[in-house]
Amino acid sequence: MTRVLITGGAGFIGSHYAHHALARHPEWQVTVLDKLTYAGNPDNLKDLEGHARYRFLRGDVASREDVALAMEGGADIVLNFAAETHVDRSIGDPEGFIRTDIYGAYALLEAARSRGVKRFLQISTDEVYGSVPQGASREEDALMPSNPYAASKAAADRLAYSYHATYGLPVLITRASNNFGPNQYPEKLIPLFVTNALDDQALPLYGDGLNVRDWLFVGDHCEALDVVLERGTPGQVYNVGGGNERRNIDISRAILERLGKPPGLVRSVSDRPGHDRRYALDCRKLRLLGWSPRTPFDEGLEETIAWYADHRDWWEKIKSGAYLEYYRKQYRL
Ligand code: NAD
Ligand code: DAU
Repeated sequence: MTRVLITGGAGFIGSHYAHHALARHPEWQVTVLDKLTYAGNPDNLKDLEGHARYRFLRGDVASREDVALAMEGGADIVLNFAAETHVDRSIGDPEGFIRTDIYGAYALLEAARSRGVKRFLQISTDEVYGSVPQGASREEDALMPSNPYAASKAAADRLAYSYHATYGLPVLITRASNNFGPNQYPEKLIPLFVTNALDDQALPLYGDGLNVRDWLFVGDHCEALDVVLERGTPGQVYNVGGGNERRNIDISRAILERLGKPPGLVRSVSDRPGHDRRYALDCRKLRLLGWSPRTPFDEGLEETIAWYADHRDWWEKIKSGAYLEYYRKQYRL
């Protein structure tokens, strides 16, 4: 059996990966370690309860004790998804990002090197490159993160590399573009706009709405992580992009159109401070390993919208109470 630790597995991408891992790798014994912050949702893992090769541990990656417990009995592969992930929250209060994204990565790396982990995959992000006015970021480009979330992820990304360079830990680093799909917390652009539109609420579009992101369907991301684990070279970084550059305004219109809602639901609101204009990734390195994204953007968007329309029970409880208050204050709606 291969012992696999998935941190942050109750979140959006981590929970997709936990399902993917158990389905694709019958020889894997999977432990999910998750603090269950506001973004961690046990509903995302409910159907795995009782699975013979799966266990869930509630714990903090920034606690050396919790990490030691999660790796008790050893770990062969670690995938570190655990992070504070929302840029707007990092602008409001960066501390939790420093603690979880940086110190949490450190605690995991330390534990991994003392236990002889065979593969440590640090899930990084295209945000570490900062805004890319033209062309596409390559793995060796300079890192110019421009918000506290991105800067914390850049620190963890390079810290992970340093454990390879200094201690020989077999670290792999992936930098993915904007993921979308079912189970994404409705504070991120697509799930926020879809659920608002379903409720006939305004869609708060930042600034002029012309910022560009490259959208990657979450299932394609999971496949890319396997390819990197299996065929990647330790110490190397791999960009993972969907190849779907879209302006935010066009995403907003596409969602409203598909749901048969009026374009007037889009509401221009003040811009995010330090708002990166565009992200774009050059993914030739990962393509050489045999991966390319499979889900056309329109198909992925269709599936995502249908999921939120069919799973009101999943998101309505999230979008009530404290969250709603936070969100209304944030966007002055
Ligand atoms: P998410 O916010 O949906 O989930 C994060 C998970 O981490 C939650 O389950 C949360 O409870 C858990 N967590 C937070 N702090 C923790 C701590 N201290 N200890 C243990 N668990 C903790 O995030 P996501 O969108 O699924 O992103 C997962 C990873 O992928 C992150 O590292 C993120 O930086 C990276 N990433 C995300 C995207 C994207 O578009 N969503 C793109 C590229 C990279
Ligand atoms: O690029 C990868 C990153 O993508 C991940 O590392 C982050 O964890 C993830 O949060 C995401 O960051 P973004 O800032 O790109 O995603 P977000 O969904 O917050 O915003 C996408 C774009 O939409 C961005 O240009 C800001 C804009 N936006 C976002 C929200 C939430 C709006 O116009 N209105 C909104 O209400």
